[in-house]
This record gives sequence, C-alpha cells and structure tokens, in this order.
Amino acid sequence: MMVNIKIEQKDYIAIITIDRQQALNALNRELLNQLKELLNNINYETTRCLILTGAGEKAFVAGADIAYMKTLSKKQAEEFSIIGNSIFNKIEHLPIPVIAAVNGFALGGGCELALACDIRIASDNAVFSQPEVSLGIIPGFGGTFRLSRLVGEGIAKELLFTGDRVKAPRALEIGLVNAVYTLPELLEKAIEMGEKICKNSPIGVSAIKSVMYEVQKADIYGKMYAEAEYFGNCFETEDQKEAMTAMLEKRPAKPFTGK
Ligand code: HXC
Repeated sequence: MMVNIKIEQKDYIAIITIDRQQALNALNRELLNQLKELLNNINYETTRCLILTGAGEKAFVAGADIAYMKTLSKKQAEEFSIIGNSIFNKIEHLPIPVIAAVNGFALGGGCELALACDIRIASDNAVFSQPEVSLGIIPGFGGTFRLSRLVGEGIAKELLFTGDRVKAPRALEIGLVNAVYTLPELLEKAIEMGEKICKNSPIGVSAIKSVMYEVQKADIYGKMYAEAEYFGNCFETEDQKEAMTAMLEKRPAKPFTGK
C-alpha cells in the first residue's frame, strides 16, 4: 500500500500528492520507489497533464530525508542519487506536461523535484533553496544542472554556493516559478492551467515537450562541438607548437606571442 503518496484523477488531469507530513514530505527510498511506481502506472492516453504537490500547508518537499542519508556510505549515497535522478529524469521525459504546485518548503531534493517538472507555480509561503553545501554535500537530484538552465548560471551559482533561501516573490522574479498564489488558491490554479493544456491537441503538446528536450540536448552537444572547435584552432598556432615542443625538449618555452 502506498502510505506516503497518493494519486487522484480529475478528468484528463492526474494529481500526485506527496504525503509524509511528519517529516515535511521528505523523500526517502520508499517514497521515491512509490513515486516511480505511480509514474509507471499512469495511463498516458487518458491522462494529459500531471500535477505534483505536497500534502499540508507547510511543505512541498523539505528535501531528501536527512535521517536516511546521515549514515549512507559513499556507494549507497551514489546509488541514492542515481535512483532519484532516474526518477526525476523520467518526469522530465514523460509524454505529458508536469506542473509542480509548490505549497511551502521546496528544499534540496524538493527544489530539485520542482525543477524536473515542466512548469512551477507556488503559494505565497513557498521557500526554495539548495542548502546541500551547508550539510557537507552537493545537490544529487539534478540541482547542479537544472537550476542554471532555469534561472541562469550566475544566480544558480549564487544559490548553490550560498544555500540562500528564496521566498516566493524572489522566486517569481528570477523565473524559478511562473506565478504565485495564496495557498488555498494554488491547486485550483494548477488545475485551471492543466485544463487549458488538456483542451489542446495531446499530440501537439507532447511533441512540444519532446522537441524542447531535443533542442536542449542539441544545445549541450553544440557547446561540446564549439569547445572541440576552439580546441582544434589552438593547434594552428605558433604558440601551441612552441610550447609543446619545448616541453618535450625539456627546455623553457619562449614567451607566448599570441600567434
Ligand atoms: C528528514 C525532515 C526533513 C528532511 C524536516 N524534517 N525536513 N526529516 N529530512 N529533509 C523533519 C524534522 O526532523 C521534524 O521531525 C519534522 O520534519 C518537522 O520539521 P521541523 O524542523 O521541526 O520544522 P521547522 O522548525 O518548522 O523547520 C522546517 C525546516 C527544517 C526549515 C524545513 O525542517 C529544515 O531545515 N529541514 C531540512 C531541510 C533541508 O536541509 N533539506 C535538504 C536536505 S539535502 P521531528 O521528528 O523532529 O518532528 C537534500 C539532498 C538531495 O535534499 C539530494 C540527494 C541525493
């Protein structure tokens, strides 16, 4: 039985609620497994949009479960990161849009879960943060790459290096969320957005999600090739030839000329 997570269907919309309020909905292995199972069992022909939210009025997800993580070995921690990452990647690749309705703390793994969704809306009490460095770890569920994609590298690095908390108005300002509502309105607004999406061609909506993902991938490869190109260009310079030759001849190189 799934004790920490539930799913409801409302016409074409599925709503998954993470409900482990005694630990502010923190994610442990069991909860991640349950989430995976739910995602695997959704019928993507009769469900055209998924909403993810947290139970209660305090937290979306207050992170990965620190009590669970505390005594993990290096290997176990790596495994935990891979398991979470594979589930969050799955969310990113679902054939339907996923809206995170962030109803309070979205810290660490909770922030990363929201980042893996297509769209984020929040209640006015929402607080985001990647506090991992303050715990002697780093984000392990995609925060290092998904945050910068959304808010830009400068702000992402600031948030990741400082662990600063971002309240709803600032989250809106930096593009971490699309809109902010009062807590009682939040789910209603998520459903409203979901209903609009569900009225549109499911093939079209799904195709957009796939194409946008492909473009992002192309972007990464594009950058990789740009790097290779610049790398290659260096091999046509006198400086490279002189420096490498000098190294192999065990003598100091002549000063660089910029040619
Ligand atoms: C386990 C947690 C938890 C967490 C809260 N709780 N967050 N348990 N893991 N991430 C538990 C508390 O221990 C407490 O249990 C209960 O939930 C209520 O929390 P309180 O701390 O008493 O509430 P409050 O004082 O209001 O503070 C709320 C809070 C604080 C600011 C959100 O709980 C907090 O800082 N939590 C940790 C947030 C965090 O650092 N998250 C990132 C984790 S690292 P008891 O039994 O005492 O009632 C991470 C890495 C992801 O996510 C990558 C992994 C690969």
